[in-house]
Amino acid sequence: MGVQSWHIYAEKDIFIAVSLVKHTLKSAAFPEADQQKVLVSVAELTRNILDHGSRFGLISWQVVSNSIRITVEDNGPGIQNLSEILDTVAPRADAKGLGLGLSGTKRLMDEFAIESSERGTKVCVSKRNTSTQATINR
Ligand SMILES: Nc1ncnc2c1ncn2[C@@H]1O[C@H](COP(=O)(O)OP(=O)(O)OP(=O)(O)O)[C@@H](O)[C@H]1O
Ligand SMILES: [Mg+2]
Repeated sequence: MGVQSWHIYAEKDIFIAVSLVKHTLKSAAFPEADQQKVLVSVAELTRNILDHGSRFGLISWQVVSNSIRITVEDNGPGIQNLSEILDTVAPRADAKGLGLGLSGTKRLMDEFAIESSERGTKVCVSKRNTSTQATINR
């Protein structure tokens, strides 16, 4: 399966993106606990598009060499205090929710990279499939 993607415009797109990525994770036989970590990350990153971004964005994902790689991008205003936000381990006063979406995602995934400027935000994350079944399916 090649790269799959879904445009994020509205609340329902978060649920659709989560369902589509779940299907990919199941097909690739990711362990149940890791599926949950990835799906929470998908929900957090796509929700940020609606909460803080341009209210329009794209999620794309692919299983490559035994890992799921996910990119979530928007053309919104970008994140100014990025290093502070990524270091957050307790609820922030200025946050819309708990303010743990990005820092939580960083901890749930194996790899986390973020590029943000006044032209937009792009988050790339990945998670390895640690199940023995994955080696068979490859
Ligand atoms: N795609 C984005 N575009 C612009 N700013 C963003 C984007 N994603 C996050 N931010 C900024 O980074 C902050 C931290 O995001 P994070 O997801 O960690 O917390 P939150 O969205 O405020 O709260 P929570 O995710 O817990 O509901 C946000 O408050 C917002 O200021
Ligand atoms: Mg958030």
